Amino acid sequence: VDQLLNRMLRIGCQLQCTATVSKAVGQVLSVRQKHALPDLTYDYAALEPHVNAEIMQLHHSKHHATYVNNLNITEDKYQEALAKGDVTAQVALQPALRFNGGGHINHSIFWTNLSPNGGGEPQGELLAAIQRDFGSFQKLKEKMSAATVAVQGSGWGWLGYDKEGGRLRVAACANQDPLQGTTGLIPLLGIDVWEHAYYLQYKNVRPDYVKAIWNVINWENVGERLQTAKK
Ligand SMILES: *[C@@H]1O[C@H](CO)[C@@H](O)[C@H](O)[C@H]1NC(C)=O
Ligand SMILES: *[C@@H]1O[C@H](CO)[C@@H](O)[C@H](O)[C@H]1NC(C)=O
Ligand SMILES: [Fe+2]
Repeated sequence: VDQLLNRMLRIGCQLQCTATVSKAVGQVLSVRQKHALPDLTYDYAALEPHVNAEIMQLHHSKHHATYVNNLNITEDKYQEALAKGDVTAQVALQPALRFNGGGHINHSIFWTNLSPNGGGEPQGELLAAIQRDFGSFQKLKEKMSAATVAVQGSGWGWLGYDKEGGRLRVAACANQDPLQGTTGLIPLLGIDVWEHAYYLQYKNVRPDYVKAIWNVINWENVGERLQTAKK
C-alpha cells in the first residue's frame, strides 16, 4: 500500500491530471487498510547522546502520528469524493494527501535509517557506489552535510538512487513535494531538518545536529535500500 501511495504522490506531482490520480488513488483505496504508525525497533533513549529521548518521543509519537492520522482522515474524505464523483473535492485534497502522505513516507524511512548500533562506515556494494559517485565516504558526508544544513526553513537532506543513470545522488528539498516526485530519486537515506527533529537538544545550531547524526546512521539499512532500488 505504501508503494502505491508513493506512486500516487509521484503521479500527483508530475501531472495535473486528475483522471490518472483518481485511478491510482482508487487502486490504493480499494485494497487499503488504514495506515498505522510503525513501531521503532529501538527505545526513544537509544540514540542518546546524539538524539535525545525527548526529541525521539515527540517526533515519533506526536509528529509522525499526526501525519498518519491526517493521512487516514484525508483518504477517507478522498474515498467519499471518489464515490460521489466530486472531482473538485478530489483536487482540493491533493495538498493534504501530499503533505501527510509525504510525511508518513519520509519518517518511515528515517526511523529505519537510524540505529543505536549505527555510525561507522558503509560496507560492500554501498561503499563501492559511494566511492564511485562521490570519491570517498568522507566526501559524501561533506556534500550531504552541507546540502542538508543549507536547507531553507523546514526540509530534508537525502541520499537517493538515480535508477536511470545508475548513480547515487545527494538532494535537499525545502518544499513539500516527495523526493521521488520532484527529483526522480529513490530515497535511501534521509536527514530530517525540520526544527522538531533537533531544536529541543541543539536549539538553532542545525550543523551540530547534522554532524552528530552520522554517529547513528544504520548503513546496513541504507545498503539494503540500495539493493532494492536497483531491482
Ligand atoms: C490512523 O492513524 C492513526 C495513527 O495516528 C492510527 O492510530 C489510527 O488507528 C488510524 N485511524 C483509523 C481511523 O484507523
Ligand atoms: C518529505 O520529503 C520531501 C523530500 O525531501 C520533502 O520535500 C517534504 O517536505 C517532506 N515532507 C514532510 C512532511 O516532511
Ligand atoms: Fe520530522
